[in-house]
Formats: sequence, structure tokens, C-alpha cells
Amino acid sequence: MTKVWDGFIRGFHWLLVAGLVTLYITGEEGMMDLHFITGYLLLALMAARLVWGVIGSQTAKISALFHSPKAILAAIKSKQSHVGHNPAGSLMVLLFFVLIIVQLVSGLMTTDDILVEGPLAQYVSYDMVELAGDIHHSNVELLIAAIVLHIVAIVVYRLKGQNLVKTLLTGKQEHAVSTPAMKSGLLAYVIFIALSVLLLLTWGAEPLQSLL
Ligand code: HEM
Ligand code: HEM
Repeated sequence: MTKVWDGFIRGFHWLLVAGLVTLYITGEEGMMDLHFITGYLLLALMAARLVWGVIGSQTAKISALFHSPKAILAAIKSKQSHVGHNPAGSLMVLLFFVLIIVQLVSGLMTTDDILVEGPLAQYVSYDMVELAGDIHHSNVELLIAAIVLHIVAIVVYRLKGQNLVKTLLTGKQEHAVSTPAMKSGLLAYVIFIALSVLLLLTWGAEPLQSLL
């Protein structure tokens, strides 16, 4: 067994899933205090993931996510297992990062036109707030489409004989073709928690107070 996913990547994934589900429900239901708090926590999580993408384990590196179109097509056809994200999966991960960042940043500039507005709305023009609102509404559809594609891909890999979920849960892979350089994910968790506290004490103070 070879360790291929560190503790932070594994925790990041399921916290991301929980965060997005909460944000979707609270957004649709207009539960804005909880929506904002979860939004700030997800912002901290995503920022920690990007930092970890620079200083983290080999399989967490953002630089490892860029591949040629030829390598991506070859990965789709191949049955061979890969250490870390394969070139096709890497494209999916990059797409997720972009869609999630667009969703978070547009949220920071969005208003519900009644009670609340994102903390950056006051610094940008009215047109920009309108545009951010439109993006915040429509980008959700793209995010859902990407999630469906992601889950279909995981099922297809399972049918091809690769259990990617088990590897993501345990962090360990059988018959790995190489041994990646791993780091403890503890530092990334410290960054995540520090950023969460900072955001909750500043932008999050108001929604947190109304919630408690
Ligand atoms: C809200 C829904 C989901 C989102 C946004 C999402 C997003 C992501 C992202 C961003 C990664 C890359 C992790 C990283 O390098 O940091 C990833 C990997 C992965 N996800 Fe998800 N995911 C979702 C749901 C699921 C579900 C429900 C499953 C299981 C059925 C799953 C299974 C996996 C697996 C196995 C990997 C590793 C893929 C590989 O080996 O390359 N995901 N996901
Ligand atoms: C990835 C993270 C996020 C997701 C998935 C998400 C999702 C949603 C959804 C589904 C809605 C309902 C849209 C509709 O009524 O059609 C919504 C509304 C809203 N979101 Fe987010 N959101 C996220 C992050 C944020 C953040 C960080 C903020 C601000 C701090 C924010 C502020 C708002 C506001 C103000 C609305 C109300 C818009 C309106 O009523 O027109 N969101 N969000």
C-alpha cells in the first residue's frame, strides 16, 4: 500500500461537499446568516487548498494538474491506474476550483436586494453588483453539471476496475506505480482554521451574532 492522498486532501474533499450542499440549501431557502457563515468557511477552506497546492504533498500540487490535450485523451481511453489525479481528472479538479472561486467571489458582491449584501458589494459599482448576482445565480447550474459529470466519471472508473473512492477515503493505493513525496496535512488544517477564525471575527461577526 502506498500513501497517495494526505489527510488534508481527504478532509478537504468531504468538507467541500458538506459546505456546497449547505450553501445550496441555505441559498435556495434564503437562510442568509447561515449562507454567509458557511460561505466564509468555504472561502477559508478553498484558500487553504490553494496554498496547499503550492507547498503541499506532490499529489496536492496545482502544477501537477496541467497536462496536454493529448495526455488528457490518452487518460480517458486508458485503463491504467495513476498516482494522484490522472490528466483527465486533473482537468475536472481545475474546473471545480474555477467554478467554486467564481461562486465565492460573486457571492461576496451579491445582494438579496432586501436585507443582506456580500461584504464587497459596497466597494463596487451598482452594475457590478447586478452582474455578480447574475453570475452567482447561473454559475450554480454549471457547478451542478460538473458535480454530476464528476460522479459519473467515478462510477465509470469503478466499472473499469478502479475504486477511486476507497483510495480517497483511506489515502492509500494498492499497486501504485510510483511513490509520491507526501507531507502531513496538519499545516494546511492550521491555515484553514486560522483563516476561518479571521473571517468569522471580521466579515462573519454580524451573521454569527444574528445566528446565535
Ligand atoms: C459536491 C460534490 C463534489 C464536489 C464539488 C467534488 C469535488 C472534488 C474535487 C475538487 C476533487 C479534487 C480534490 C483535490 O485535489 O483537492 C475531487 C476528487 C475526488 N472526488 Fe469529488 N466532489 C464531489 C462529490 C464527490 C462524491 C459524492 C464522490 C464519491 C462518490 C467523490 C469522489 C471523489 C474521488 C474518488 C476523488 C479523487 C479522484 C482521483 O482519484 O483523481 N466526489 N472531488
Ligand atoms: C460556493 C459557494 C456558494 C454557493 C454554492 C452559493 C449558492 C447560492 C444559491 C444556490 C443561492 C440562491 C440563488 C437563487 O435564488 O437563485 C445563493 C444566493 C445568495 N448568495 Fe450564495 N453561494 C455561495 C457563496 C456565497 C457567499 C460567499 C456569499 C457572500 C458572503 C453569498 C451570498 C449570497 C446572497 C447575498 C444571495 C442572495 C441572492 C438573491 O437573493 O438574489 N453566497 N447562493
